[in-house]
Amino acid sequence: MTTPLLRQVLVQINGSDPRLNEIVSALVAHLHAFVEEVRPTEREWLAGLDFLIETGKMCTPDRNEFILLSDMLGATSAVDDVNHAGPEGMTPSSVEGPFHSPAPARELGAWISSGPERERAVPTVVHGRVLDCDGTPLPGAVVDLWQAGDTGLYDTQDATQDRGNLRGLFTTDADGRYWFRTIRPSSYPVPTDGTGGKLLHAIGRHPMRPAHLHYRVTAPGYRTLTTHVFLAGDPYLDSDAAFAVKEELICRPRPRTEGWEMDGAYEEIEFDLKLVPDDWTEDGT
Ligand code: BEZ
Ligand code: FE
Repeated sequence: MTTPLLRQVLVQINGSDPRLNEIVSALVAHLHAFVEEVRPTEREWLAGLDFLIETGKMCTPDRNEFILLSDMLGATSAVDDVNHAGPEGMTPSSVEGPFHSPAPARELGAWISSGPERERAVPTVVHGRVLDCDGTPLPGAVVDLWQAGDTGLYDTQDATQDRGNLRGLFTTDADGRYWFRTIRPSSYPVPTDGTGGKLLHAIGRHPMRPAHLHYRVTAPGYRTLTTHVFLAGDPYLDSDAAFAVKEELICRPRPRTEGWEMDGAYEEIEFDLKLVPDDWTEDGT
């Protein structure tokens, strides 16, 4: 409902950037509708503003609590959804999360785990192909991979891990294939020591993310694909704190005892990634 007050605000939005005018006008209209619906007391409104101030104070060059809040409220996934339409068969994208950092280039087949987690966790081979949506292999694609250790921490959060542990940059071979050796990923909580954690606690939500590996895949002529692979059977698949799970990204690890240059029992995860050409349009023009 457009109230006289909302009209007064909207009429003054008249900058030189039409898209910015559109965004700010919609934001103001939703904000006014929220106030009309919820009718917050002044004390509640100020508590909300204090929460945002506290969130800003948590932010550093290495930590962005606003991104975490956006992830936890499903807003990052909503933005992802409206920006990544593509052809049938493409691998869906999924949120990047706050823990991407530059990875060391590694040979195909390399171990990405070099710490004590390698003795504790289930050894795992991850392999697959990078393809066009029509199934054409993409040689020379770069697969940037990152995962947390079995304690739920990334190398950048954990002084006991070497930088670059559980990360790798791999280049696909002539058949578009990649493979590497690692440990089985574990489920883990998002950081809960800031306002994001306070909010989750206050609204009765758990902070867990289901076990996953992160991918960012680049190939000339194709859209960069940022996504995850999740492990089937994880108890948090239906309640991911970051709302990043999509059916097509769930993969069941297979128990194995031989092959892939492994000694003894291990698990195998096979995950193909299908990229969308840069020039793809919904109406095929
Ligand atoms: C993660 O994958 O580590 C993550 C993603 C979104 C929010 C917090 C953590
Ligand atoms: Fe993660």
